[in-house]
Amino acid sequence: MSKKIMLTGDRPTGRLHIGHYFGSLKNRVKMQHEVDECYILVADVQALTDNFNNPEKVRNNVREVVMDYLSVGIDPNKATIYLQSEISEVAELTVFYSNLVTVARLERNPTVKTEIAQKRELFSESVTYGFLGYPVSQAADITAFDATIVPVGEDQLPLIEQCREIVRKFNSIYGEVLREPEAVLSSTKRIKGLDGNEKMGKSLGNAIYLSDSEEEITKKVMGAVTDPNRIRKDDKGNPDVCMVAYYHNLFSNEEECSKVCEECKLGERGCVACKKQLANNIIEFLRPMREKRAYYEEHLEEVDKILYEGTLKAKAKAEVTMRKVKEAMRLDYFNELKKIDDSFSRQ
Ligand code: TRP
Ligand code: SF4
Repeated sequence: MSKKIMLTGDRPTGRLHIGHYFGSLKNRVKMQHEVDECYILVADVQALTDNFNNPEKVRNNVREVVMDYLSVGIDPNKATIYLQSEISEVAELTVFYSNLVTVARLERNPTVKTEIAQKRELFSESVTYGFLGYPVSQAADITAFDATIVPVGEDQLPLIEQCREIVRKFNSIYGEVLREPEAVLSSTKRIKGLDGNEKMGKSLGNAIYLSDSEEEITKKVMGAVTDPNRIRKDDKGNPDVCMVAYYHNLFSNEEECSKVCEECKLGERGCVACKKQLANNIIEFLRPMREKRAYYEEHLEEVDKILYEGTLKAKAKAEVTMRKVKEAMRLDYFNELKKIDDSFSRQ
């Protein structure tokens, strides 16, 4: 039976929030126990594709993201957490794979297309070669580890499809060396922001971070968007248009949720009390993560050691793939030259 190898990761551009948790972290924590090998990358090189002018930001968020992983329950004995920029094999593979994908195909990639549109300010003149090509480097991330399972958010599906195409093309030309990965989606997909925006995001200012303090959580929940037609406390409400009700469904138990809905519809529930109850439930939900994070913040050397050792381990694995790929692509002439060197040293 072939090995189940899972690989996924995040760009270190900020701390992770509850959208990341429900969209993918929760699933990773579960899956790390179900696969033969598990790799989680901190994608600092990929982060530069849209933050090339802000290297400090990327650098400063590497450790934050690792702490977020550890605090939600990624177990370094199960998962290898590594730093992308140290795996030079990935950069090499990216160059090799760049011949196997056309510019038109990259331009058609729905994820890339949407992101370019969102980043008008950054790419006002024209999109960079690096950004347009990031699906190619993501294919390198995945295949360098021979990964078969890639748990990602829905928005990343076109990137996995693009990776599969590259793999098929590679194998058809150079021989069966690479394996096609499969995307795995979380059961909860994308979660909305506190303001009702379809997406929770750093730049949108509508996120609750896994590391937020109790006060921050309360303050944010108090500012969440509720049914706009509800002005007085006894107005009948519509929980379907209220973000507070939406989050109750994620963080409160069934009994509480049905009570929220019922009382809201009858106009028997105050929004302030409703929000306080939600804030408390979120605070309790995140408490173990906050506590674990506090531990790691006091033991940064442990965090760094985990990332360091993970990176060394990951590097060794990528080197094996690299050798196979170069041989298949007949980029192996240097091996002949090395024989000459050997015979000299024997004289
Ligand atoms: N593109 C992913 C994101 O923005 C991060 C990432 C980089 C990734 N390399 C990957 C995800 C490989 C899965 C597999 O979140
Ligand atoms: Fe939303 Fe609760 Fe107010 Fe209803 S009572 S509108 S569910 S905050």
